[in-house]
Amino acid sequence: MSQSLHPMLNIAIKAARAAGAVINRASLDVDKVQVESKGVNDFVTEVDKHAEAVIVDALLAAYPGHGILAEESGRELGAKDSEFLWIIDPLDGTTNFIHGFPVYAVSIALAWRGVVQQAVVYDPNRNDLFYASRGRGAYLNDRRLRVSKRLRLADSLIGTGFPFRKGDNFKRYMKMFEEISQQCAGLRRPGAASLDLCYVAAGYYDGFFETGLSPWDIAAASLIITEAGGLIGNFSGEADFLYQREVVAGNPKVYGQLVNILTPYTRVIKDDGTAAAEGGAPAPDATDAFLAEATLPSAAPEPVKARKALKVSGPRTPKQR
Ligand code: IPD
Ligand code: CA
Ligand code: CA
Repeated sequence: MSQSLHPMLNIAIKAARAAGAVINRASLDVDKVQVESKGVNDFVTEVDKHAEAVIVDALLAAYPGHGILAEESGRELGAKDSEFLWIIDPLDGTTNFIHGFPVYAVSIALAWRGVVQQAVVYDPNRNDLFYASRGRGAYLNDRRLRVSKRLRLADSLIGTGFPFRKGDNFKRYMKMFEEISQQCAGLRRPGAASLDLCYVAAGYYDGFFETGLSPWDIAAASLIITEAGGLIGNFSGEADFLYQREVVAGNPKVYGQLVNILTPYTRVIKDDGTAAAEGGAPAPDATDAFLAEATLPSAAPEPVKARKALKVSGPRTPKQR
């Protein structure tokens, strides 16, 4: 590990490791873990809740005046008016965890005035610690991270996440899937978005895209990617992605090629009130309403070559359901 970590990053790392210990202990007897359903195919376990409590306790013990946005408790805990906001996913990849599929992580970001400053993603299976402080580079354990150097999408390994919740727009996703899978060297869907994004930072993947993600899935890894020299944005290539429920990331070359393909599928509302895809943006769901109340804007710097979303018509425009 690099010397002299920022004190806030140090606290986040301790909190992530403590949550990882809770998760690892529970994974020894995963059949005993109590599972509740938050919605169709959307689960929470006692382990998610216990890990979140451990993280929040550690953060608020060190910084009692800070705010908290955590997947299981929302904005319930911590200060409501702080410029500091911890964004927490205590167990990213719950479905994998429940099945004993060893791909899940703890994700903790600290935003100040809406911009992510500190980030940790901890994979307790591999004891892999991804972390970054703004302006100081990204690391995996002791190793400095750099995105891949691959130039062509045709040679690239791309990560994604499939839609799986009731109300998700499967048809729109299948069109993106069809386009991208035919233009890259391979597509992967392991099932923990925070790790997927860190794999872009590490150069394992050359790019990644997914819809339907929440800020706690992506906040920490977004800084890890940009500190590793990568880009992250919404499908039209703009930096406003944290609350947009669509994200694309990659090394700068592959990012540009993915944005070219994904721009027609954006649902980001433009200033003139139109969404890019035919039929407008899908109806907001409960999570959209919750996120709309949150106050954190973008976590990433403006990506280079930011692009405008395409307007409604045209043969490549997907239909929204
Ligand atoms: C999920 C994972 C998954 C992604 C989902 C997320 P959770 O997080 O990141 O890869 O496809 O959209 O909700 O619910 O396991 O914390
Ligand atoms: Ca998650
Ligand atoms: Ca989670």
